Amino acid sequence: MDYQVADISLAEFGRKEIVIAEHEMPGLMATRAKYGPDKPLKGIKITGSLHMTIQTAVLIETLVELGADVRWCSCNIFSTQDHAAAAIAATGVPVFAWKGETLDDYWECTYRALTWPDGSGPDQIVDDGGDATLMIHRGYLAEDKSAILDEPTDNHELAVINHLLKRMLKESPGHWHKVASKVVGVSEETTTGVNRLSQMAMRGELLFQAVNVNDSVTKSKFDNVYGCRHSLPDGIKRAMDVLISGKTVMVCGYGDVGKGSAEAMRNERAQVLVSEIDPICALQACMAGFRVCTVEDALPIADIYVTATGNKNVITAKHMSQMKDQAIVCNIGHFDNEIEVNQLEAMPGVVKEEIKGSYCPVHRYRFPDGHAIYLLAEGRLVNLGCATGHPSFVMSNSFTNQTLAQIDMAANPKRAINVYRLSKQLDEEVARLHLAKLGAQLTTMSHDQAEYLGIDINGPFKPEHYRY
Ligand code: NAD
Ligand code: ADE
Repeated sequence: MDYQVADISLAEFGRKEIVIAEHEMPGLMATRAKYGPDKPLKGIKITGSLHMTIQTAVLIETLVELGADVRWCSCNIFSTQDHAAAAIAATGVPVFAWKGETLDDYWECTYRALTWPDGSGPDQIVDDGGDATLMIHRGYLAEDKSAILDEPTDNHELAVINHLLKRMLKESPGHWHKVASKVVGVSEETTTGVNRLSQMAMRGELLFQAVNVNDSVTKSKFDNVYGCRHSLPDGIKRAMDVLISGKTVMVCGYGDVGKGSAEAMRNERAQVLVSEIDPICALQACMAGFRVCTVEDALPIADIYVTATGNKNVITAKHMSQMKDQAIVCNIGHFDNEIEVNQLEAMPGVVKEEIKGSYCPVHRYRFPDGHAIYLLAEGRLVNLGCATGHPSFVMSNSFTNQTLAQIDMAANPKRAINVYRLSKQLDEEVARLHLAKLGAQLTTMSHDQAEYLGIDINGPFKPEHYRY
């Protein structure tokens, strides 16, 4: 069987929810109608490593309708919706994902999504956070310098990847060089993944072109802001069923995700504190009426902590040891290193207790002084670990950008290795495709007005560098 999901009998339920989602994803449905007949992705092998949700199912079926040969895995051990995975597997698209994978499962699934039955790899990748890209690049590097796999590490996940790559090196030497030589490029979904790609490009390590989907305005200013505004409170409520109103909430980071998260907490009538390292974002938070302070300042008063920085060690084990009794700690950033979970577990005298399992992970950590904190989704993104992520309408914007990025790469396979963005015109097109559903009526500018503003009436409405 060329798939691995929790329960294939959930396919019918998954299909019913996919039909509901399609109605809320006008961008993807319009993209199918526009490009479907020409099949711009005909025969192109695409690996996706992106949360296997109902919304992602609609993305996968769009890529298939455009002609692609798709294999998929999730980019997080807790984010798969098992009925979505089953529905897609039942159509014959190989899916390797279930809710509550171990890290060993996770990397094995990534490997299987990257490997076709004839042993070949993908032509193009849809990545979210960069793990599929990382596996190819680390595998490639290890084939040149196998000693990197023996370097001592206290990072459990890196040890898991190294172990798998060592096995590959023995079973199929040269595999990753062959795979990398055929990859045309990757389209990357999220801020943290784009950050990884930019660093690789700067160091001259990037092996193929990349399209930065995150920084399309219709992605980062919608998904990251409005998506999190919806799905952060959903995650906290499903995990703890707690009243947020009247509580004090600290949001760490006031970028796009932090802005949506802080607004969501204010909308619940919480008192919101924000921590920032960037003076401009800190000033923005002040102007929005939030109190800007450090995590240390918040310790005596905050009831709920949310990290949204894309940075590491933002909430430390020491912080958690000094929080109020029953404080709730969670992360909405891409990776689980924003909160020092390993260090918390290694603290002498700390006792961990499972409250809810992998269907909605919640753990209590009791400290030797008797106080306890609750950690949601084991420090992984709470909106997908404890809830179902962003709703379809927001994801339609993100995934229309993803689909256009895949078409763009297929049309430009020989571009120099670099990190590209989609054009401003395509960004505006994504917005246009979603306006009708909201009943919005655009004003048409006259030639005279365009001349007055000094812009081409057929071109983008604002310069490329314009910040929204
Ligand atoms: P961003 O760069 O816009 O914002 C991050 C902010 O955190 C910046 O303003 C930065 O100055 C601040 N920051 C960095 N280190 C800090 C620290 N130590 N203390 C306080 N503030 C700090 O990024 P973003 O688009 O908001 O994304 C944030 C994270 O969320 C990324 O990991 C991204 O990949 C992820 N993301 C998650 C979801 C989701 O559904 N869970 C959706 C989109 C993005
Ligand atoms: N990222 C945030 N929400 C998501 C969702 N519903 N599906 C896929 N990726 C997501």
